[in-house]
Amino acid sequence: MSLVRPRRPLATIASVALVAGVATATLLALAGCGRFGAGVISTVGTVSFTHRLAIPPLATSTIDSQGRTSFNLTAEDGASHLVAGKPTPTRGFSQSYLGPTLVANAGDRVVVHLHNSLGEATSVHWHGMHLPAIDDGGPHQLIAPGSTRSPAWVIKQNAATLWYHPHLMGTTEEQVSDGMAGMFIVHDAAEMALPIPHDYGVDDIPVEVQDVRFDAQGHLSTDVRGFIGPTGNKILVNGTLGPYLDVSTTVVRLRLLNASDARIYDFGFSDARRFSLIATDGGLLPAPQPTSHIQLAPGERAEILVQMAPGERTVLRSALPDMGLDHANSSMNAGADSFDVLQLRASDRLATVGTIPAALVPLAKLPAPTAFRTFVLDGHEINGRVMDMNRVDAVVTLGTTERWSVTNAQDEPHSFHVHDVDFRVTSVDGKPPPPQLSGWKDTIYLRPHVTYLLVMTFADYSDPGHPYMFHCHMLEHEDDGMMGQFVVVKPGQLPTTNLGAQHDH
Ligand code: C2O
Ligand code: CU
Ligand code: CU
Repeated sequence: MSLVRPRRPLATIASVALVAGVATATLLALAGCGRFGAGVISTVGTVSFTHRLAIPPLATSTIDSQGRTSFNLTAEDGASHLVAGKPTPTRGFSQSYLGPTLVANAGDRVVVHLHNSLGEATSVHWHGMHLPAIDDGGPHQLIAPGSTRSPAWVIKQNAATLWYHPHLMGTTEEQVSDGMAGMFIVHDAAEMALPIPHDYGVDDIPVEVQDVRFDAQGHLSTDVRGFIGPTGNKILVNGTLGPYLDVSTTVVRLRLLNASDARIYDFGFSDARRFSLIATDGGLLPAPQPTSHIQLAPGERAEILVQMAPGERTVLRSALPDMGLDHANSSMNAGADSFDVLQLRASDRLATVGTIPAALVPLAKLPAPTAFRTFVLDGHEINGRVMDMNRVDAVVTLGTTERWSVTNAQDEPHSFHVHDVDFRVTSVDGKPPPPQLSGWKDTIYLRPHVTYLLVMTFADYSDPGHPYMFHCHMLEHEDDGMMGQFVVVKPGQLPTTNLGAQHDH
């Protein structure tokens, strides 16, 4: 069985309008029909937190004959009890919705046996993972129905919160929003030595946030508004609607993952309490950053430490994100929406996990870039092109540090994600990055008409025949082809001309 989702009637009109550069005002004149309606959604103060937050199980592993930590994941159809009384058709990995959390340590050799029991092809991309291109799980690495693929690699990166999800040509949004996503936690010695919570599901909590919408039958449906793509009117955390978390320690570590198609969250707390940002996509910051909110676009992660007093309650809330748009354009793109996300309930006696450390892990210094590229995102295209699985858009030389200048040339929201490597943002329109962009990143929101300079080193894994992707992580845009490919080659090597395009249907 595969899920059939009603297609969005206005998608074509919007894409044409985007390509033609039709002004926002003209599009707003079309308000009243789906995509262009600017209805504001708020669940603030109205959510009853009646379900204990589900914690995705830890994926079990064995050590195989080659000494590798071996995991199994099965992409499968299922039915989930997300809303009372009505089973919702969903998909997940080894469970009916979402997938287990994989955990590994820097230096581990891992293999994941991915079995596809869906009625259609899928792929599994390790978002944020530094690994060979052939194991990256992009649209070139399809897993046909009934077959198994076994990517294997060595964990060569710092402690971080990563995730996995399908990565197809044209159907990523459909599979992800049906529930195909999971977390991958990497630990390392420096992080394990810090006096911060490490007890998965107890004081170290995965928080996978998705916005959904249920139709009268309890099935997932989508409503496309504005340009960002499908958005929902309810929030699931780890697949739980109206979730609460029992907190038993004085400090809790939340690993926030925006696993939504399109929605941008600005996370904070109902009592405006301050918390400490300790990690971004690619790992720990040099020191905790005190703040009262953290904004995450689809695909971005942040780890935060929240201090709790005995018996108190607070609600993780998403306030209006600052997308850098004018008011009309912002509300049209879900920027006026707000949500109560997760209630934290501290018990009357809390175990102490120490105080928040003053310092975390020093940030490595970046080598000076010696290669420069420019990427302009406009009209669901990057540098005027849509994705072509047989075209290499950038040839990167192994061992090089590059600087990518990335600009969103439209008044519409986009984001930028790079596979294979983490980058550092060295400039936002000529200014130093704000704290949440100052550490290791692999995905950033692109404010309209702002230029971001990203610096990254391609230290490993040359392969002229297998590309990595870069793309907007708003899944409808990615599915529309707002994506490109790069290969990493040895000095002087040329990329393979036929990259072996595959079709997913
Ligand atoms: Cu989270 Cu290219 O993907
Ligand atoms: Cu990725
Ligand atoms: Cu986009």
